[in-house]
Amino acid sequence: MTKELSLLMLAGDGIGPEIMVEARRVVDWLMENRGLNFTVHEGLVGGAAYDVFGVALDDDTLALARQVDAVMLGAVGGPKWDGVDYDKRPEAGLLTLRKELGLFANLRPAICFEPLVEASSLKPELVSGLDIMIVRELTGGVYFGEPRGIETLENGERRGVNTQVYTTSEIHRIARVAFELAAKRGGRVTSSEKANVMESGLLWREEVTVIAADYPEIKLDHMLADSCAMQLVRAPKQFDVIVTDNLFGDLLSDVAAMLTGSLGMLPSAALGVKGGGAMYEPVHGSAPDIAGKGVANPIATILSLAMALRYTFDCEAEAQMIEDAVQNVLAGGLRTADIMQPGKAKVSTSVMGDSILRALDRLNEK
Ligand code: IPM
Ligand code: MG
Repeated sequence: MTKELSLLMLAGDGIGPEIMVEARRVVDWLMENRGLNFTVHEGLVGGAAYDVFGVALDDDTLALARQVDAVMLGAVGGPKWDGVDYDKRPEAGLLTLRKELGLFANLRPAICFEPLVEASSLKPELVSGLDIMIVRELTGGVYFGEPRGIETLENGERRGVNTQVYTTSEIHRIARVAFELAAKRGGRVTSSEKANVMESGLLWREEVTVIAADYPEIKLDHMLADSCAMQLVRAPKQFDVIVTDNLFGDLLSDVAAMLTGSLGMLPSAALGVKGGGAMYEPVHGSAPDIAGKGVANPIATILSLAMALRYTFDCEAEAQMIEDAVQNVLAGGLRTADIMQPGKAKVSTSVMGDSILRALDRLNEK
């Protein structure tokens, strides 16, 4: 019997359920055709959980998330829950999973698939061959810093507070992730903060530099976050690995994602300490405007499964097969609406899923 691989699929809200169905079909394909032994659990998160349990993540689902090897998450949020308190909002489900599972390292690759070069809002020559890895700190910074809240002052004015805070150990561990990745890629790390205005940014810069001493073969530079945003749209190919905090990572990863032509293409991994849990999710959100219409792009979710195979399940061959299958389908001219281009064939979520499965069949025959 091959080793049991356990997976918890939390489809969430909006287009989450539609795209997760397609990832699930790829899991089934892997079991039938590659002899992998997955046990798949399913559960609710986000608004879907709030509607049933009154919270965005219930205790049983969190307990299950701790037990499995990896969690796959679709997307959370939508206008339906706009009035809900922060601690119960759909987004809180996601933040709780990150925090409780200790998933401090968020890997967000921004890769430009060659068939989609024309879909980028930048000139083709700027994005062709683009391959950036954004390493975003995910369990600290202003997302979790205390104090936080909205208070009413004596004069009746209201005051909103969030706290940007980092400690040396938090910076050291995320820096190591970035340097280790760079060693397997282009050998360069750009660390990004606002050391010119923030003490936490200065600390970040100094402590990343401390860790750099352990990686003499890696070239490190520092770039202010605003400048980094600018450079990302000016000359994105100058970057290899970008390491940055939770908030700047949120912003910069959206910018980098869009360079590639579509948010609908990009996977991500949230990792903790080795041997601990992991969570894989598409970078795009719940897209409530197109939810339920069967037009969403399932590729980011399917590529997130490929990342799970690579980083958690140690199945590099299968991860590579999935990535090749996606390339082949795109090269064959199929597009979901978000990546539609003149002269290509527009297909639904499920037809895109079918086509990826057929491409996997062909790769598997070789
Ligand atoms: C992301 C999202 C989340 C974040 C939201 C949904 C809480 O924007 O994963 O990038 O801000 O981290
Ligand atoms: Mg974001």
